[in-house]
Amino acid sequence: MIEYPLVTVIEGKTKIHVPDVESFKKSPASYPPSDAPVFYNKVMELNRDFALAALRVYQKKYASREQLHYCEPMAGSGIRSVRVANEIENIAVIINDRNPQAVELINENVKQLQLEKKTQVYTDDANELMLRFGAVGKKFDILDIDPFGSPSAYIDSAAQVVSDNSLLAVTSTDMATMCGVYSKACIRKYASKPIHTWISHELTVRMLLGFIATAIARHGKMIRPVFAHSTEHYIRVYVIVEKGITKAKAAMEKLGFISHCRNCYSIDYSFGLINTLTRECPHCKEKRQIGGPFWLENIYEKAFVDELVLELQQLEDLYGKQRQMSKILALITEELKAADSQKASICYYDLHQISDKLNSPSPALDATIQELIKKGYIATRTHFRTNSIKTDASIDEIIKAMKKVLKKK
Ligand SMILES: C[S@@+](CC[C@H](N)C(=O)[O-])C[C@H]1O[C@@H](n2cnc3c(N)ncnc32)[C@H](O)[C@@H]1O
Ligand SMILES: [Zn+2]
Repeated sequence: MIEYPLVTVIEGKTKIHVPDVESFKKSPASYPPSDAPVFYNKVMELNRDFALAALRVYQKKYASREQLHYCEPMAGSGIRSVRVANEIENIAVIINDRNPQAVELINENVKQLQLEKKTQVYTDDANELMLRFGAVGKKFDILDIDPFGSPSAYIDSAAQVVSDNSLLAVTSTDMATMCGVYSKACIRKYASKPIHTWISHELTVRMLLGFIATAIARHGKMIRPVFAHSTEHYIRVYVIVEKGITKAKAAMEKLGFISHCRNCYSIDYSFGLINTLTRECPHCKEKRQIGGPFWLENIYEKAFVDELVLELQQLEDLYGKQRQMSKILALITEELKAADSQKASICYYDLHQISDKLNSPSPALDATIQELIKKGYIATRTHFRTNSIKTDASIDEIIKAMKKVLKKK
């Protein structure tokens, strides 16, 4: 019998009971989802909406079999998995949380929605659950790792329980660490040196992908990133995992280092697990920041993103956060125009930062993009940061384009 206050919410097509988190708020500065006996965060509805949309795309276009096996090892209130069980056909859903009160609530919702036949609910440690299933050869087609903070402690177990051609989705809310506020903690958790600067949000995605690729490769598998987004206080990546030693070796070659110069804003990269970028910036001779290893290849797959766009157009009433998702997808669709050029697709230039340095007003973003395109460069906006441009133009060419736009004004 659940004795703490509950509220009923509707996400997607699912009506579910969750803790009334506001009633648990301990102090004005506290974070109510963590104060409640069971974790539920309304802000993560967009994360869950994208998770269901990605699952539908995977099921339609990527899955190898008709009957899918899904697992969420850290389910909190269970809202994500219960939505999956309630809204998706041909799927068996494993829901787990080590918090017994979470499992009590999950069971309650499974019962009220009559989902007993499609679900199995466990109260285990996430790693123990994944390794136990993996050990007896029961593999998941979709695995959703959505922990508190860092996912780093769960990826090795995840690698052992995903099937060939599976969809692995991972959230990280460990942003301060991954952005380089806590550099040593970052190296400890992700074996990657962060760069603390305005390109950090894309770097965190590339760091997480590099970390996942390495853990997966250890088990003779490779990742193919299909989708990622950086939203509010978290990042989220979606990768297809494929089996094969040769593929795993090839994936390791996609890692490398990135440099960022705070003086002239140039961004450079070098492939390989040994850094070959010089500390002295070759463009302005100042000292620059170097971080890595990061995933240097594409972080989105065009076909997957195109399908997500279609999914939202056709089934928009399934997603409460449809408008916000469409905006993110529109920017990512633009970013994909830079995908054929590594120089253009790796990180971005912030026009405000450059203008501050030049002591001049910031030019209009779209006009600057058009100016660069006129010159024959790739140039796009990015969902990672407003007022920023992905381009294969050099920093000198970007400044020229900015000045031209300001002059026209
Ligand atoms: C961020 S919440 C999950 C939110 C949920 N995925 C959603 O979409 O609403 C993280 C959950 O992980 C659980 N947890 C933390 N460490 C765990 C572990 N080692 N094994 C299993 N569950 C764990 C916590 O009890 C908490 O409910
Ligand atoms: Zn420089």
